[in-house]
Amino acid sequence: MKLDEFLRLNAPEDLASLASAIAKASIDVWDSVPFKTGLLSETNPSGETQKAIDVFSNDVFVDALTSTGLVAEVASEEMAEPAASKGSVSVAMDPLDGSSNVETNNPIGSIFGFYSSKLPAPGRDLLGALYVTYGTMVTLTFSFGKGVHRFVAVREGGSMPFQLMGVNLKLPEKPEVYGFGGRRSEWISQVAAFWESLEGRGLRNRYCGTFVGDYNQVLARGGIFSYPALAKNPRGKLRVLYECAPMAYINEQAGGYASDGSGNILDIQPGGLADTSPLYIGSSELVHELEKNISTA
Ligand code: AHG
Ligand code: MN
Ligand code: MN
Repeated sequence: MKLDEFLRLNAPEDLASLASAIAKASIDVWDSVPFKTGLLSETNPSGETQKAIDVFSNDVFVDALTSTGLVAEVASEEMAEPAASKGSVSVAMDPLDGSSNVETNNPIGSIFGFYSSKLPAPGRDLLGALYVTYGTMVTLTFSFGKGVHRFVAVREGGSMPFQLMGVNLKLPEKPEVYGFGGRRSEWISQVAAFWESLEGRGLRNRYCGTFVGDYNQVLARGGIFSYPALAKNPRGKLRVLYECAPMAYINEQAGGYASDGSGNILDIQPGGLADTSPLYIGSSELVHELEKNISTA
């Protein structure tokens, strides 16, 4: 089944149009990657140097989303202020996740959250979320509140339409993989102790340095991904609006749980657009165990 047909049957009309616009734009982003890896001099609101691909993908997705006439605003990790438009859905996006991995050809991605209220908003206001992986395959994984579904881009002559790959994806019962970002020497002690315990419990260390790629394998294999609280940076690195909440929404739809170390990521009311949070996401039992270790320390 083609993406637009599935969306017409399984998503609210406006969100279906937005997902379809993102799907088309994602192929333009993917096609551009080999040509857009140079560094630009600008920095983004988080103070990170912007790579050409961050800015290019941001502009491609802002155009694709605002030209639908369905979005009230598009907030992006790469823009200080949201792009305003005249629709009703507030979109928050990380247009290119893992851009530092482009030169090494590691998986990279794009993350989108569709909010019902003005940004910054809590994850509880999400109407849906979607992430693109640009890796061995280009896939769209999304949920609009009725399960997690996946489509894959397949070449058809000069175009790359998206075909159905799986519906109602769920985290497997048995957790198999784990991946923790940041430097081990900087993790808070409860995270270090928990990480040490995982190999003895039969889990395998699988970390690629891109949140989307690292989470995508947790969804497939079960387990936990984290970009944890750091001794020098208790608020972690990943942005609540653009990265943590949309992925926590999908993860929860797949039967998992995502925590900031004290409670559900989806309950965070971000103070600002670029607020960050420690993130522990994946199989519910594992994440609740780590949350308990951290919150009762
Ligand atoms: P982005 O490229 O959107 O800034 O995101 C990169 C993030 C995330 O993808 C990954 O988990 C994390 O940065 C890795 O951080 P370190 O390079 O500090 O390990
Ligand atoms: Mn990112
Ligand atoms: Mn990014």
